[in-house]
Amino acid sequence: MVDYLPNFIVGVEGIDEVLPDLLYPGSLVVIAGHPGSGKTTLASTICYRNALNGNKCLYISFQESKKKLFRIMKNFGMDFEELENKGLYKLLRMPITGNVEEIIEQLSKTMAEYAPKVVIVDSVNALTQFISNTKIRALLQNYFYSLSETLNGVTILVAELPLGEEKLGLGAVEFVADTILVLKHRIERGVLARVMEIRKARGAPISIAEIPFTIAKGKGVVALTPPILTKIPRRGAKLKLPCNVLERVLDHVHKGHVIYVEQPSFFRPAESVPLLLGIAFKNNLKALIVSYGYPPETQLNLTIHAYSICGYSREDLRKVIEEHVVFTAINPFSYSLAETVAEEIRLAGEYGDNADMVVFHSVELPAIAEKLSSNYLANLYNQMNMLKKMGKLIIRVGSYVNDEMSNLFSALADVVIKYIPTEANEGEQKYRVYIWGRGRKPYLLKYEDIQGCLKEVCEIIKEKLKLQKQCSQHTVEGDRYGSM
Ligand SMILES: Nc1ncnc2c1ncn2[C@@H]1O[C@H](COP(=O)(O)OP(=O)(O)OP(=O)(O)O)[C@@H](O)[C@H]1O
Ligand SMILES: [Mg+2]
Repeated sequence: MVDYLPNFIVGVEGIDEVLPDLLYPGSLVVIAGHPGSGKTTLASTICYRNALNGNKCLYISFQESKKKLFRIMKNFGMDFEELENKGLYKLLRMPITGNVEEIIEQLSKTMAEYAPKVVIVDSVNALTQFISNTKIRALLQNYFYSLSETLNGVTILVAELPLGEEKLGLGAVEFVADTILVLKHRIERGVLARVMEIRKARGAPISIAEIPFTIAKGKGVVALTPPILTKIPRRGAKLKLPCNVLERVLDHVHKGHVIYVEQPSFFRPAESVPLLLGIAFKNNLKALIVSYGYPPETQLNLTIHAYSICGYSREDLRKVIEEHVVFTAINPFSYSLAETVAEEIRLAGEYGDNADMVVFHSVELPAIAEKLSSNYLANLYNQMNMLKKMGKLIIRVGSYVNDEMSNLFSALADVVIKYIPTEANEGEQKYRVYIWGRGRKPYLLKYEDIQGCLKEVCEIIKEKLKLQKQCSQHTVEGDRYGSM
């Protein structure tokens, strides 16, 4: 007869994908962490998700009352009451004082009768703190250590780490355990950043040592697994440029390319983004704009305003823009770095396979927030490669802050466009544009060249408007005569 081998998951999206073999029958797991780091939430998630898969879970709590635990977990989208009613979950509250032999007897009875596949002990510190007799304590600890083997299941021991302490100090269990996860939290720019360190994983090859995560209402633990690709992806399809002058200088760009546009900090040429949106119009692409500085409404208004030289009505412009562009905004100071990267990738994915172009606006802000740290650069580079793999043309627009940032952003790009201010007369700031494509000669374009380019974008918009009008006429006629 073949033994039934249960399959265990962590149950957190993003973790099971990168570490599918973290939990297996017979494994002993330690979840350690500082106060409030999310130990109970993670342990409950593992308990809940496996129970839903039919692997009954026994939660041994020395701390939280059932009522409180159920209420908090419900906030995270886990209905333990329902699970309990289905017989898939049992909570055992253990007295911290009491006769150890009696405790073990009660536990053994529950194990035999209930036969859980997942057992959580929250927390083992209760055992070590309140049982002073070392012999008796060892008895109870050994009982828990050998439980997963006996049950052919998973035992999870939650261990509390004092704040500031990184060493577990749990003694023998660190050697006995098959998997050790350490939950940590630190403050990044006044924002809470959580990471899960995978300190040991006997069953799985580890390529990622730390997984950033958040705890979110309605969702519980959400992994922000960094987008790490070991290979640099190839560039994608060729794209046409929206005007003659850009075609002359750059010939074309590819999906997967990075275009970096830099403006002086004291003026932002209104047409820099609208000009490049011409690529979306010309190639019939959808563009997603992620601004770190402007709310979506303002971005739309500024874009409409930049096209006012075209001479079309506001409504017409809005229609064409909205057909091709989605505006979003992120305040990089309200998220940790890992959260910002995860949010950007999520946004880029959310607009579907259609969003072939992602424009990041005010890119100097997250760079300042992160002080251009090596961690920031690694995240940025990985994120760019991920978007490249997703086949997006990446446009990064930012203000000049210092040479270090400027050189770095330029080095990461395939095309660099820099605005250089010249004279300001009669209230109008004029400029030249330095433009350079990797492997090509750098050019210096005049103000008039750029204005001419925008006029050509107007022509593309005009074609779009014609098409839209034809389409709506067809629809009206279709409605009138009924569809074929
Ligand atoms: N509704 C919520 N939305 C987002 N985060 C929440 C919500 N409720 C609680 N949290 C976060 O979840 C964390 C609590 O997690 P949890 O109780 O799992 O931690 P713990 O490590 O078990 O803590 P302790 O050491 O106190 O046992 C808190 O730090 C809190 O910030
Ligand atoms: Mg807890």
